[in-house]
Amino acid sequence: MSLAPEQLARRRFLDRFGRTPEGVAVAPGRVNLIGDHTDYNDGFVLPMAIDRSLAIAFSRRDDTTIDLSSDLGDATFGLDPVTHGEPSWSEYVRGVASTLPVGAQRRGWDGAIASDIPAGAGLSSSAALEIASALVFEHVGRGSASTMDIVRASQRAEREWVGMDCGIMDQMSVAMSRSGHALLIDCRTLERTLVPVPDSIVFVILDTSTRRELVTSAYNERRAACERVASHLGVAALRDVDADGLATAGDGLDPIDLLRARHVVTENARVLEAARALEAGDGERLGSLMNDSHTSLRDDFASSSDALDAIVEAARMAPGCLGARVTGAGFAGCAVAAVRAEDVDGFISHTTERFRDETGLIADLHPCRPGDGATLRLAERPPSWR
Ligand code: GLA
Repeated sequence: MSLAPEQLARRRFLDRFGRTPEGVAVAPGRVNLIGDHTDYNDGFVLPMAIDRSLAIAFSRRDDTTIDLSSDLGDATFGLDPVTHGEPSWSEYVRGVASTLPVGAQRRGWDGAIASDIPAGAGLSSSAALEIASALVFEHVGRGSASTMDIVRASQRAEREWVGMDCGIMDQMSVAMSRSGHALLIDCRTLERTLVPVPDSIVFVILDTSTRRELVTSAYNERRAACERVASHLGVAALRDVDADGLATAGDGLDPIDLLRARHVVTENARVLEAARALEAGDGERLGSLMNDSHTSLRDDFASSSDALDAIVEAARMAPGCLGARVTGAGFAGCAVAAVRAEDVDGFISHTTERFRDETGLIADLHPCRPGDGATLRLAERPPSWR
């Protein structure tokens, strides 16, 4: 059996720095069950943490240098001041160093990173790196940031430092998920509701193995379109509009912008209904809402792709499938399916085969149970965070 990221990070730390680490920060990836491109419109989302994670084994240093080692290369930078630099993954750590609330001491650390969350696949590998780094910075600098401060600093790192104008879903779900539950988030009030996932429904991640460059620019463009419509309608965000309101407000709006907005407005309603269906164990209804969500993301929001459409189609024809949709930012990467628990094995083999026959691509299908959010494990003390 392969080692978990936490063990790999510990081992890498020992190899690279010649001592055992002071602690390990572990942050999961997430899969969004429904509600994409709604978070930055003050809407609703329903993600859950998955059983893939990123771990940083770390020890504090006596200076203000950050020295990092990972499979994707090494990075060293100073905190006075933090600067942009290579490799590109280190930008997320640099960003967090620059956005964490003042109060934490500017203290350097050595870190070894290991992860089994595929990058650029829509499973929040970047939010996991941000949240795990923020936990380390807070711990070594004896900061007093709350979990929400850490979430906000991580989101700001991505928006202001990396330039991806993201919402708050990824950072909140990576930091705040609870085992056995999906997390319904009201992205305006930041109110969270845990929704139990029944044993009868298994969520399967469908990784097409495609990755797209330039997701950031497509994403920022979509966000700008939504904001143009909200501003045209004189509301703070598309959260404040329903389908009827949008239908009567078309005059003077760019037709493409209107389609983008229609996705957001209809998706918000689907998320709330999906949370009720999940809570009631109504897999059929949940699946049908996931199917509608995919159609809306494909046709109105234009954030699917040929490979994503093909894997969603293949999934829907497989035994036990309740529904399937693209997940996360989209454009490439992963979809997610809700599957009857007793059919998961047959579902995986049928979907993999059909997708390969249709596209020639080898997909990675991964059933997952909802897990806990990020934690800090210290060598001699019990976990102190949360
Ligand atoms: C990315 C962003 C999130 C969210 C999703 C789409 O994952 O980081 O804030 O907007 O895309 O739902």
